[in-house]
Amino acid sequence: MKTRITELFGIEHPVIQGGMHYVGLAEMAAAVSNAGGLGIITALTQPSPDDLAKEIARCREMTDKPIGVNLTFLPGFASPDYPGYIQATIEGGVKIVETAGRSPESFMPVLKGADIKVIHKCTSVRHSLKAENIGCDAVSVDGFECGGHPGEDDIPNMILLPRAAEELSIPFVASGGIGNAQQLVAALALGADGINMGTRFIATTEAPVHQNVKEAIVNASELDTRLIMRSLRNTERVMNNVAVEKIMAVEKEKGDSLGIEDIAEQVGGVYPKIMQEGTMDVGAWSCGMVAGLIHDIPTCQELIDRIVDGADEIIKERLASFA
Ligand SMILES: Cc1cc2nc3c(=O)[nH]c(=O)nc-3n(C[C@H](O)[C@H](O)[C@H](O)COP(=O)(O)O)c2cc1C
Repeated sequence: MKTRITELFGIEHPVIQGGMHYVGLAEMAAAVSNAGGLGIITALTQPSPDDLAKEIARCREMTDKPIGVNLTFLPGFASPDYPGYIQATIEGGVKIVETAGRSPESFMPVLKGADIKVIHKCTSVRHSLKAENIGCDAVSVDGFECGGHPGEDDIPNMILLPRAAEELSIPFVASGGIGNAQQLVAALALGADGINMGTRFIATTEAPVHQNVKEAIVNASELDTRLIMRSLRNTERVMNNVAVEKIMAVEKEKGDSLGIEDIAEQVGGVYPKIMQEGTMDVGAWSCGMVAGLIHDIPTCQELIDRIVDGADEIIKERLASFA
């Protein structure tokens, strides 16, 4: 399937694996890219720019296809060595960067100077337009359904995508809540040039996470995610569990006086314990409503083939029959 996104990134299928903390390691990115999509390494999971350089090199040993690096600009005080991570990306020869969190404006000169294509992930039309205006090559439009940070506008993709299509000139992919062929077709119909998936890619054989995480997703329904940290304006959609129930109880009690320190135990530094050790109840981890549509743990190749071939069939048969 050819779209503006496959042309822009030099990939076979318009399917991107979004950056994911403690999931977007070399194995994940290589598996997605080898299957014809775009695999993305998550920079901040690496403790330092040197470690990112090693992770990119490790990924290169597993694939010769295009790969990307995710740069997440964190809210608040945290200030990782972004220039260092960008330098490691450039020196690693990576030509695609997914930015998220805040506007990448201040880093655009160095990224564009290195001939890097920038896809900015954002949750609103106004931020998408800003991305277009500062020279991003594409946008990943992340609807309210998404795992991770849906922003504060709560606009689902059925509205957000066609609104983005009304306003944007650069290509965009639909992100959030997507996991199957019907949804790829719907995304294309709504004006997107492809899809970005997070949660769906965690439940694959190659995802470098504990089996408990994959099984938690398969066993969850679309009712099993919760929104936390709303009063901090850092809303996150996570899988419900004991720790999340605790967070919500504290949030209810504290109301608008909630501080991050009140829930630090359940949200700070918990990813390695969950993703690597499979201790599922130790804290909150991002997960999308699409869990309700995830019933198996295929390889990335099987998953992407199923989505792309299925989309082809829907377009040629079901949709053509209505024309
Ligand atoms: C476990 C997990 C960790 C994530 N970590 C990041 C991250 O570090 N940076 C980022 O930009 N997005 C992150 N995301 C968001 C994904 O890149 C993607 O936008 C989102 O998962 C799309 O929604 P979906 O899960 O419904 O497919 C994460 C998502 C999940 C599920």
